[in-house]
Amino acid sequence: MRTIVLLMGAKAACLLLAAALAGTGADVSSGRWWGIINMASSANHLTNSKSGQMFLDPSLALLNRRQRRLIRQNPGVLSSIVAGLQTAIKECQWQFRNRRWNCPTTQGPAIFGKIVSRGCRETAFIFAITSAGVMHAVARSCSEGTIETCTCDHRWPGPGGPDWHWGGCSDNVEFGRAFSRELADSSERGSDLRYLTNLHNNEAGRATVESGMRRECKCHGMSGSCSLRTCWMRLPGLRTVSDLLKDRFDGASCVVYANRGSNRGSNRASNRAGPHHLEPEDPAHKPPSVGDLVYFEKSPSFCSRNRKTGSLGTLGRSCNSSSAGLDGCELLCCGRGYRAHAESVVERCHCTFHWCCHVSCLNCTSTRISHQCL
Ligand SMILES: *[C@@H]1O[C@H](CO)[C@@H](O)[C@H](O)[C@H]1NC(C)=O
Ligand SMILES: *[C@@H]1O[C@H](CO)[C@@H](O)[C@H](O)[C@H]1NC(C)=O
Repeated sequence: MRTIVLLMGAKAACLLLAAALAGTGADVSSGRWWGIINMASSANHLTNSKSGQMFLDPSLALLNRRQRRLIRQNPGVLSSIVAGLQTAIKECQWQFRNRRWNCPTTQGPAIFGKIVSRGCRETAFIFAITSAGVMHAVARSCSEGTIETCTCDHRWPGPGGPDWHWGGCSDNVEFGRAFSRELADSSERGSDLRYLTNLHNNEAGRATVESGMRRECKCHGMSGSCSLRTCWMRLPGLRTVSDLLKDRFDGASCVVYANRGSNRGSNRASNRAGPHHLEPEDPAHKPPSVGDLVYFEKSPSFCSRNRKTGSLGTLGRSCNSSSAGLDGCELLCCGRGYRAHAESVVERCHCTFHWCCHVSCLNCTSTRISHQCL
């Protein structure tokens, strides 16, 4: 096995090693909690009820016992989780809008489809952005007072600076992080390559949220003088986080499973890590750091529909006929060609302002050409 791998170059090697080490299939519980985004109602009363009522909504059956307990013990948190997931999906679709894989979701309980049980870069991004989204929403909700068990974080240490002091209400990044870890990581089971990879990517999402914390201040004192400021810590918008994660997607590391006692596991890196851990597939690369995305399987092409990988293909996708990039018709349609489609668009035009105070416009019709992959 090893000889073949060395002959085939890094990319193919990753695929082969993955096949050899990933085990037979994904744990079906992997990422199952994402399905609660379909909940009919994320009203807080669900979390306050004793036993039975929690199960009224079938989406809650997608949670394991630990996750249900977590939600029950933190009244108000359910709507933050759902909101965090919704934002995460929006961000994922925004970041990948021009690519063959554009983060499609379904209405069913398996929100992201089969790609979740693969181990490619796209899988890594999904795990990272969802755990980031939940951490972000929960940390923010704490400071907004909508979760009963947490508040603003008042623990920022030290006296502040010469012209500012800590005050106000910081986003509770510590609570958000701990909560997201409990919720997201408890969906994963096992000790294999897939398990370690999913946990690593969950953590990468959270680390990226945390790394974006910034001090925000408000001026006091005589108007405009700003002689004294009160400051607090605020999380970045999730767009900032998804931009960073998209960079990490492009620079993701291909990893292999390492086991202390194996050949690969006997080097320096493994003495720091646990008995089972991830190592770069190429021993010349440095080990992935906490914020890096990791994958163990080459991405499918996403050109055509494939039930096994969950690829929807690019048939019917709009492409940009004048772009040479990933959104260009050539690449997006995988060389199959595309057709032009003329649409008439009505727009407001020749607007005039009438004293006082209204604006009147004419309706102008123009033709817009769009292109779609064959
Ligand atoms: C299409 O691609 C061209 C060249 O990259 C770019 O200037 C243009 O804004 C793109 N159009 C759209 C609708 O994205
Ligand atoms: C323009 O179109 C809108 C909506 O179709 C219509 O309500 C409006 O009366 C039109 N305006 C003119 C100036 O034709």
